[in-house]
Parts: sequence; structure tokens; C-alpha cells
Amino acid sequence: SVMDMGGDAAASDGHHHAGTASAISVTSLTADPDRRPDVRIRLVARAETVDIPGVGPIEGYTVNGTSPGPTIRARQGDLVEVEFVNESVTAGATLHWHGMDVPNAADGVAGVTQDAVAVGESFTYRFEAADAGTYWYHSHQVSHEQVERGLFGAIVIAPARSSTAVGSRAEQDVVALLHVYAGRHTLNGAAQDTHVVAAPGARVRVRVINTDQGTASVWSSGPFRVVATDGHEVVSPSDVEGQTVRIPAGGRLDVTVVAPERGAVDLHVGGGRVIHIGDASASTPPAPQPNRSLDLLAYGSSTPLDFDASTPDRIFDYVIGRRWGIIDGRPGNFWTINGHMFPDVPMFHVRDGEVVVMRLRNESGEVHPMHLHGHHVVVLSRNGISASGSPWIVDSLDVQAGERYEIAFVADNPGIWMDHCHTLPHAVDGLTAHVMYE
Ligand code: C2O
Ligand code: CU
Repeated sequence: SVMDMGGDAAASDGHHHAGTASAISVTSLTADPDRRPDVRIRLVARAETVDIPGVGPIEGYTVNGTSPGPTIRARQGDLVEVEFVNESVTAGATLHWHGMDVPNAADGVAGVTQDAVAVGESFTYRFEAADAGTYWYHSHQVSHEQVERGLFGAIVIAPARSSTAVGSRAEQDVVALLHVYAGRHTLNGAAQDTHVVAAPGARVRVRVINTDQGTASVWSSGPFRVVATDGHEVVSPSDVEGQTVRIPAGGRLDVTVVAPERGAVDLHVGGGRVIHIGDASASTPPAPQPNRSLDLLAYGSSTPLDFDASTPDRIFDYVIGRRWGIIDGRPGNFWTINGHMFPDVPMFHVRDGEVVVMRLRNESGEVHPMHLHGHHVVVLSRNGISASGSPWIVDSLDVQAGERYEIAFVADNPGIWMDHCHTLPHAVDGLTAHVMYE
């Protein structure tokens, strides 16, 4: 549920204070080694020519022979075991479970939580699918290059059978994975629009996943609802009409659309790609993109958080800046965090059980989709205006030029976690930090 902040207050021994030893056992960084997996899958990465319909052949990467790779489906609570094999990606590759709060040992960050998997080698990821929702996986080795050229796929976690989440009551459930290959916008691996044939009145859930480097925009020729952001359910979503909803790079937006009595609804999912929902033979008159944006800070009904963000244990300032420079002979703009560039950004230290507030400030003049690994964060305020809607829960947050955000999370997943910009070249050019448990 939306209130599942993962902060298991009852089981934790509260907040650690200076002088208290906080021992992190290795087992807390991995999934239960004795448990039998509920979902087991083998994913094989290859460097090869991929034929992208509507784009043409590209020199890229595949997972089990296609790009995007197969969609993994599991149920909340399942233990997922993925045997990842690198057949021919010469730079090595990994899999990172973007947005999923997996144990640190399964986070898939080359150079941080594991070595890149070399050609001919394999690595087994094991994690419990703790939260239902829409996520994706991608390589986290030279990721600005490997993700751009196809080494990714979707992962969908269905709610536990007992769940009463509203969004789970859709008759049809489809994935809309957005990506730009060779400069062309694609939907589920093809530069083509798609149809979802649905009977009048049927509710269709579309899981839009932005795997691209830039922001995507969703709008529709008819009303729709935003039922989840970054995998987390919105409380009491209302109809959205005449508004565009933005999805940051790396982010996900689950929307539901009700098929009309006659004809079809056109759901525009970014980059000019359209999903026609309803009668497949119907054509819908072209709809202009609304220029108003839905403010997720005030969407849905206000519901208290299950932790107290007003008395945080840690408050971090995270100021994004820009610096012109020449690095390795390459002149350009580089990005800074509190005046430092990766790998020289001091780590943000936390302890297990703490409530952490980050104050993001973007003084760089460009938008940055900030992504924290291993945790989901709640947006408390933007530019001094407090959230008034359903808890807006994200792992990928667009921070526009000049904006200030206050976000909060419960440090409940020990390890070392990246916190970086998901316009991936920016992450290389300085915009990468780490949250480290003491
Ligand atoms: Cu999807 Cu570190 O990223
Ligand atoms: Cu950026």
C-alpha cells in the first residue's frame, strides 16, 4: 500500500545515537540464502545488431535476444532469483533493479556493490519483491552507453493477493516502455503506435516507464487517472483532463484509462508515440498537448505518512551546481554536488532506522532527474510549498533549474547506495553521490 514506507518501526530499535555501535550484519545486505525462489529467470546479455522496427538495425545490446529484454513479472513477497549471464558485452555488464528496494548486494552497481560481470561469467541476483509496482532493470556498468543502446527491460510486481489497491482492479494491464534508440522515440521497442483493444467501460492500466535520458510527457484525448508514481499507489486519484503529466528520466507513471462507449481514447506517452485504447478500428482526431502540467504535489487525497518527517535524525543539503572545466582533455560543463564532483563528493552518512531529510537545490541552470537507489522518498515540499495531496513517493525526481525540494526517507536498507542524476551522461560528468550506512 502507499503507506508502506518500509520503515518497520516496531522491529527496529529506534534511532541510533552517537556512541551506539550500529553493527550491520552481512546477512542484512543479502536475501535469505536458504529460501527457495518463487520466480527464477535467466537473463543473457549480448552485444549484437538489433533490428528496432521503425528505426532499423543498430549496434546495441540485447537481453535474451531482444531490446528491451523480457518483462519480468512477480508478485509482492516473491523471492526473485535472476541468473545474469554476460555472453558478449566486452566492457562487462550488471543488472540494477531501478526503483526496487533490494538488498545492497543485489543492487548491481559495478564498482560499488559488485564487479562488472565479464564476458563468459555470470552473477546471481536474489531479492524479495517487497513492494508492488512498476520498475525496470538496466545495466549499471558504463550505463550511459549500455542503457542508451538497449541493455534494459521492465519488471512488474503484482500486489499481494490480499491487496485492496484500487489500481490493481484494471481489466487489462500493459507496459509502455519508452526509449530513444538512435535518436528515434520508441514504445516497447518499436517506433510505432500501438492498440489496446478494450470493450466499452473496461479499465486499462498502462505502466509507462521512461528509460530515456530526458523527461517524457503523458497526456490523453480523454480523462485518465494517475494511479501510481514510481511504483507507489496514489491515494484517491481523480480524473486528469487537459493536463500533461511529466515523467522524469528513470521514472514510472501508472495511469488508468476507461475505454469509451464508442471509438477509442488516445493516450500520448511521449516522443509522439500513441496508445489507442478501445475500438481498434476507430480513429481519434489529433489532440494538442495541453500546456498545463499536473502538479503531483497536490494530487490525490492527503494521507499522513507512517513516519515523522518533522523531526528528522539527519538533514542534508544537496546543492546541484555547474562548473566549466577540462577533464581528461574534454572541455565542457560539469556538474557539482555541494561544490564537489564525483568521485570527490563526500558520502552522506546515515544509520539504520534514521529518518533522513534532503534539501535539494538546483543552481545549475538545467533540469536533473535525481535518483536514489535502494529507498523510496516522499516529497515534502517544492519551493517552500508543502505537499497537500497523496504522499508523492518517488525514486526519480525531476529537479528543474532554480527549484528547491525537500524530500524524506527512512534509512531502512543498510549498504552503500548511489544517489545520482538519471540523465546518465550527467552522472559521469560529476552528478553522482552515495548514501552510506555507518
Ligand atoms: Cu537507473 Cu543508478 O540507476
Ligand atoms: Cu542531470
